[in-house]
Amino acid sequence: MTMSAEKSYDLQDSGVLRFPEGFVWGAATAAYQIEGAARDDGRGPSVWDTFSRTPGKVHAGHTGDVACDHYHRYPEDVAIMRDLGLHSYRFSISWPRVQPDGSGPVNPRGLDFYDRLVDELLANDITPIVTLYHWDLPQTLEDRGGWTNREIAAHFADYAAIAHGRLGDRVETWTTLNEPWCSAFLGYASGIHAPGLADPALGFSAAHHLLLGHGLAVQALRASGAATVGVTLNLSPVIGDDTPAAELVDGLQNRIFLDPLLRGEYPADVVERARRFTDWSFVHDGDLETISEPIDLLGVNYYHPQTVTARSGEPANPVYPGSEGIAFGGADAPQTAMGWPVQPFGLTDLLLRLSRDYPGTPLIITENGAAFDDVVEDGEVHDTGRLSYLDGHLRAAHAAIEGGADLRGYLVWSLLDNFEWAEGYRKRFGVVHVDYATQRRTPKDSALWYSEVVRRNGL
Ligand code: FCB
Repeated sequence: MTMSAEKSYDLQDSGVLRFPEGFVWGAATAAYQIEGAARDDGRGPSVWDTFSRTPGKVHAGHTGDVACDHYHRYPEDVAIMRDLGLHSYRFSISWPRVQPDGSGPVNPRGLDFYDRLVDELLANDITPIVTLYHWDLPQTLEDRGGWTNREIAAHFADYAAIAHGRLGDRVETWTTLNEPWCSAFLGYASGIHAPGLADPALGFSAAHHLLLGHGLAVQALRASGAATVGVTLNLSPVIGDDTPAAELVDGLQNRIFLDPLLRGEYPADVVERARRFTDWSFVHDGDLETISEPIDLLGVNYYHPQTVTARSGEPANPVYPGSEGIAFGGADAPQTAMGWPVQPFGLTDLLLRLSRDYPGTPLIITENGAAFDDVVEDGEVHDTGRLSYLDGHLRAAHAAIEGGADLRGYLVWSLLDNFEWAEGYRKRFGVVHVDYATQRRTPKDSALWYSEVVRRNGL
């Protein structure tokens, strides 16, 4: 890997912004999106191996079989982060590497990989932040109902203890789930993600069992001595003139996870709306106490707000069961390659709202970033769109800190271009470009700029 380190950036002269001392700067990835090595060293199949092989589910039939080959190239990837000066790296552990069937026998060779990765990070002064579950559910568990089967919650806690048992002497910060909303409502309610089921009732039951698994995993991690424990949610402020519509979507997107986790109750409006699909009998006595086990850190993944308008006759959006009569989209803003609007103010609003409505839990941005159609020209990638997206969102995060939000850090999504789920490799989110034919890594302009932000602790 060569980095044109001599190149420097004039940070836009729109006022100098400093972040608080000790602010954590880093980057994030996820196992299935970058590791490849899908059959190496005893890894079992995950729902994403199955789903990506199901015709029509993932763009052009792409799979994570090879991805960025990070499993073999992690020393190079860690060296890139070191050269960029990143403090911290958020990665996820592949459950089917550690327990090929999701429960029962442990595969020590799978744990060995994370052992090597953690040691490499620490040797380069980069603090690991572990996510235990970023969507690659062992297929054996899915064959028994996956997140719709209550038993999975206990299996998840066992796996958490196993992972902590091996890495807990060196890893302080543990997060349980990444974006349970996506697992539940993309995976089980709308079929857009693995395992590809499309039944609203399953979506709500999966959501509950994910939360229960989180709570049991928090207990297991604490019992084995984890220092800092949290969870990551994908949250979107909902914008719209029609207050009931915006409230409903806010419930289905945000409060359905925030309220049980941080207040120990499901929001009444969501419970009511979902009654047309489910009687909620999967919620047992004591579950909400388990789910609301105190956490040390809330991970926030923010990409864009959700704009909604009331429109009679509009069918429900399958990812928001019960949302008929509401039209989505139409923000007056530039768009990324995902078609997502670029609206940085949403991040300020979100962080301030979390501080106001759910006080007392420190926040960290565990993902923020954008896809653009990048091209390599003479060994460089001039990704001005991403650079300005990141600049705008860092300014927005800073404004929230000034407004009182207890924001501790920022992790860009993503370190590398990678397997973007149903979009396959066609959407590039990396600050480092990956040429999939050669596995060559090229830091984009945004990476060099970000490195300068990290060095200055500000903009
Ligand atoms: C989030 C996911 C992450 C990546 C980004 C673009 O929903 O957590 O894996 O796909 O979106």
